[in-house]
Amino acid sequence: MRTSRRTFIRTAVAGAAAPVFGPRLLDTLERRLEAYQGLPPASAATEEAFWREVRKAFPPHPDYINLENGYSSPQPMPTFDAFQRHALTVNNGLSFYMRRRRAADYASVKQQLAALAGCPADEIVITRNTTESMGTVIHGIDLEPGAEAVMCDQDYGTMLEQFRQQSRRRGLTCVEIQVPLHPRDDQEIVDTYARAITPRTKLLLLSHMINITGQILPVRKIADMAHARGVAVIVDAAHSFAHVVFSVPELDGDYLGASLHKWLCTPLGAGLLHVKKDKIRTIWPLFGDTSVPDDDIRKLERIGTHPVWTVMAIADAIRFHNLVGGARKEARLRYLQQYWTDRVRDLPKVYLNTPPGARACGIANVGIEGWKPGVIAEALLEKYRIFTVAIDTVPVKGVRVTPHLYTTTAELDALVKAIGELARA
Ligand SMILES: Cc1ncc(COP(=O)(O)O)c(C=O)c1O
Repeated sequence: MRTSRRTFIRTAVAGAAAPVFGPRLLDTLERRLEAYQGLPPASAATEEAFWREVRKAFPPHPDYINLENGYSSPQPMPTFDAFQRHALTVNNGLSFYMRRRRAADYASVKQQLAALAGCPADEIVITRNTTESMGTVIHGIDLEPGAEAVMCDQDYGTMLEQFRQQSRRRGLTCVEIQVPLHPRDDQEIVDTYARAITPRTKLLLLSHMINITGQILPVRKIADMAHARGVAVIVDAAHSFAHVVFSVPELDGDYLGASLHKWLCTPLGAGLLHVKKDKIRTIWPLFGDTSVPDDDIRKLERIGTHPVWTVMAIADAIRFHNLVGGARKEARLRYLQQYWTDRVRDLPKVYLNTPPGARACGIANVGIEGWKPGVIAEALLEKYRIFTVAIDTVPVKGVRVTPHLYTTTAELDALVKAIGELARA
């Protein structure tokens, strides 16, 4: 049987551009969530029937309670299903797809991602992760010897390491400050950063949501202060993106990196880099692209051949995210965190490394006096089958607990009971 050219092209691109949830999975989820369409975020946080439906979309963890979703999120099954089908589609017509269809799909995904980020598509690049996004800036920016960069003791280790390398390579001075675990107010944090700025300061690194404690920093206020002193700001939004609701421009960072495989629940290996339009020309592409104008973000897109099906599945992850609703997601994650932290806060010997209220969302960190973090995490896993991660740094000693949309309050009750028993032991 002869295949016409038109049929061939249709087959080669089937399912590529648009999100392609598995029909049954999507139908089921969409139908079930339809009943909750008008559910406002405030009441959604405790609407258990809604979250039971959402939970069904995630893969189960029959053997343990997973409270370590900070590393990265599992893909909901509809996204995973789409991801697999994208891989199949591309593999079936690999070179054809890469030469004829990839660019259009990439542009389409970029548009959808830009809409979620609230910024123009010509200010973003799809990367593999936050490390790559931030590294593109840290290693691509011109900093004269003697320039200073300000960062804090709770920034992510890999970012600090990238700055330290610039220190060895280019003579950059890294100034590391201490951010309070329990700030009085935003001004205390702004002042802490302000005190570290000198006339030589060129760049300020800011974690929007600190990964080891979950503390949310007042990025906009710090950025305003830094800009007033002529200092550019690079925001690490690895944990805040698609976790709390914000638009990238409202933070007013000059550069921002995020991982999409964390709270957007994409397949592993998807990230976002945002560069303000007027800052694009300040970054040298790591892999060189003189064919693209200096102020065109596409100069940063030349990264060689990579798993394009991961990029395609970003569209499906965004669709899932929007189905749940960003504001409802934030409200639920904050509710889950406060559900367990409120129940352990006043227990003897128990202390929290996470500030209360709106200064945190899903992530929190707890310690027990006299216990090493590693021993707590081990006991939680071995004795109670609760998976967390130990954080043992100079400012933060405790276990990080990260629930997800599929976490139940019964699972958090088990955590509360376990912490109480360990603290009494
Ligand atoms: C604050 C922060 N920045 C950056 C990263 C690095 O993310 P990735 O490994 O996706 O590059 C992480 C990872 O947990 C993080 O928590």
